[in-house]
Amino acid sequence: MFVFAPRTLSPSLFFHNPILQNPKPTINLSLKSEIQIERGLEFETGESFFRRESAAGRDLGVLAASLYRKSKGKLRVLDGLCGCGIRSLRYLVEAEADFVLANDANDENRGVICRNLAQVPRGFGDERRWTVTNFEANRVMTECYLQRDFFDLIDVDSFGSDSSFLRSAMNALRLGGLLYVTSTDGFSSGGHRPYHSLAAYGAYIQPMPYSNEIGLRMLIGGAVREASVLGYRVAPLFSYYSYHGPVFRVMLRVNRGKLPDNRWLFGSRKDGIMASLAIVTNVETPKHFHGMNLVRSVAHAAVLSSSLVSQSVIVSGPLWTGPLHEASYLTEMLNLAGAWGWAGKDTGTETDTGKLLKQMLDESDPRLPFGFIKLDEVASRAKINSPPLRIVMETIQKEGYAVSRSHICSNAIKTDCPMTECIRIAKELQQCDSAAAVNL
Ligand SMILES: C[S@@+](CC[C@H](N)C(=O)[O-])C[C@H]1O[C@@H](n2cnc3c(N)ncnc32)[C@H](O)[C@@H]1O
Repeated sequence: MFVFAPRTLSPSLFFHNPILQNPKPTINLSLKSEIQIERGLEFETGESFFRRESAAGRDLGVLAASLYRKSKGKLRVLDGLCGCGIRSLRYLVEAEADFVLANDANDENRGVICRNLAQVPRGFGDERRWTVTNFEANRVMTECYLQRDFFDLIDVDSFGSDSSFLRSAMNALRLGGLLYVTSTDGFSSGGHRPYHSLAAYGAYIQPMPYSNEIGLRMLIGGAVREASVLGYRVAPLFSYYSYHGPVFRVMLRVNRGKLPDNRWLFGSRKDGIMASLAIVTNVETPKHFHGMNLVRSVAHAAVLSSSLVSQSVIVSGPLWTGPLHEASYLTEMLNLAGAWGWAGKDTGTETDTGKLLKQMLDESDPRLPFGFIKLDEVASRAKINSPPLRIVMETIQKEGYAVSRSHICSNAIKTDCPMTECIRIAKELQQCDSAAAVNL
């Protein structure tokens, strides 16, 4: 645990010496200093927590930041948990941020952050490009809010399911600004800690299929809930899952305003809803839990709205059931990624962010329901070998259904084609294959 003292707020935070003495995360970090290169930028990692695999998440953040800079003509970024400062550096150099506040509670990271950012001349007074602080992120963001020092993009690259950052980040964000939030809590999204997910995100989550998509929806739902307390509404611009960690990352646009009442419809998938939702699966029998329950009508509606029988229902939620991405925004990101040469090559050292964005764009088809279907599961139910994904997709499409790959699960499809139909299609494909083999 971090120990922060004193807990009072200082009026001139950014020009004080750090008051934190060696705050250490509880997780075990075995790290050694290295020189890294990401998108052509050289930086050191020192003893900080750094994951090379998070480069795609950083790419996405930088693309969004750059689009913001281009459309608004100005960009101030708060990188709340900056590690060695690689994101801050990339926001400065690639997104041409006018100013970046790079903060990390661990003051042992200060030297490495400063050395990395020193590649960009710091500037003075109103021309100052960057500042480094070593405070607890909530404190920094709350100070900014109190000083009415608002930011256009706030990046919260936190561990676990620490949702305490949501409110302070929203307070320190300019209206219309971008909030890039993180969860790495795969246990909660997997339904293994329902009381924990309830505490962190207000969602009682039980084990369900496609738990990694649930993780994104859990995080968005928590942000929607927090925003509505403040009179804000948030819309996800993109949602990104990565298996290492795992890491759930969502870029939200935060605006003033509440969700219209008529959008709080059970099971609706209209834009911007936070359905007071139950998700239905045929996994387990109903469970009840103390203190906090979904109301009877919701659970009842869940049963009515599905073809499943009531005995095989489990209920999780409330969760975000609206779109994971905004297609027009992804298109802009994809175009920019192309212009920057980030599309069409996966060199092993640099990810093909264009390919990822294209998959996300395909997933944004509004006809696609949440969740995905694993082809292995189709094959197992059809009692056949797993059919080739491309052929299955083409056939499903020919039959008039919407279908896309899922960036979350490589051997899965998102489709409005029911599972029973997927099984039939897979069996027919298998029969065609067998017939062709006989005729050879
Ligand atoms: C996931 S790492 C950041 C990685 C970095 N953003 C990157 O892309 O390489 C999280 C960082 O947050 C710092 N940290 C943990 N809790 C914090 C808190 N409450 N406030 C500020 N920094 C914190 C840790 O010292 C660690 O460097």
